[in-house]
Amino acid sequence: MTAVSSALAGKVALVTGASSGIGEATAVALAAAGAKVAIAARRADRLEALAARIEKAGGTALRIAADVTSNDDVTAMVDKVVAEWGRLDILVNNAGVMLLSPAAEAVLDDWRRMVELNLLALMGVTKAALPHLRAAKGHIVNVSSVAGRVANPGASGYAATKFGVVGFSESLRREVYSDKVRVTVIEPGLVRTELGDHITNPAAKTGLDQRLAAMEALAAEDIAAAILYAVSQPAHVNVNEIVIRPTDQER
Ligand SMILES: NC(=O)c1ccc[n+]([C@@H]2O[C@H](COP(=O)([O-])OP(=O)(O)OC[C@H]3O[C@@H](n4cnc5c(N)ncnc54)[C@H](OP(=O)(O)O)[C@@H]3O)[C@@H](O)[C@H]2O)c1
Repeated sequence: MTAVSSALAGKVALVTGASSGIGEATAVALAAAGAKVAIAARRADRLEALAARIEKAGGTALRIAADVTSNDDVTAMVDKVVAEWGRLDILVNNAGVMLLSPAAEAVLDDWRRMVELNLLALMGVTKAALPHLRAAKGHIVNVSSVAGRVANPGASGYAATKFGVVGFSESLRREVYSDKVRVTVIEPGLVRTELGDHITNPAAKTGLDQRLAAMEALAAEDIAAAILYAVSQPAHVNVNEIVIRPTDQER
């Protein structure tokens, strides 16, 4: 992290899934741009290390151990941010899991987990944060995927959740734009993170590993830069959607 700048000075951000990958890189980028950043995930030790890194670089971080599939945790998470800093300007709904498998081989609990986290939790966090985002004329950034626009075989369950995020976000944008609340959907292609580690289908895991080995994938910081771009625009500019693939990725 470079020295703290003032692009987002006075802004308060909440990033879910901040303990690794895209969420971690986004928290670092927003803090470096001057925002106070609440970092939420289940792994408290990882949040501790990230907060220390942000603070060492001159930024401000608030650690919140939370499972965003728990309504109680979501309420407590949003309340904690507002109790600590009095406002919420930027919500980055990033927590997610990608449990790839062909539909015929799908483990129902994997599908349930993806729907509950990627879609329902994102919706629940948004609802809980919305009154504060309206008050602040804030910004919601929903991390979807290329899989929310292009449905490839072997990813039906994951694609269902990410298409859902796109539909939710577009409807939401049209509900809140008149309150000057902005909504951005980020749609990354392959990014080198821990996302594939949780895949339970061995062939799907091998397939992903082979795709990653054969290309120069994106880094989490590439996506963080896109999120920073979206939330740094002037108030009248609503960046609705950013699709970012590695140059090596066709679909
Ligand atoms: N990597 C890619 O190629 C790629 C491409 C397109 C879209 N995306 C999307 O980008 C987002 C971030 O993924 P990533 O690639 O950065 O993967 P990652 O490194 O595995 O990060 C996932 C994050 O979600 C958090 N999380 C998981 N379950 C949670 C829960 N129940 N409550 C709260 N937090 C939870 C994890 O933290 P804890 O385990 O500590 O809770 C972790 O911080 C996801 O929505 C993913 O679908 C990724």
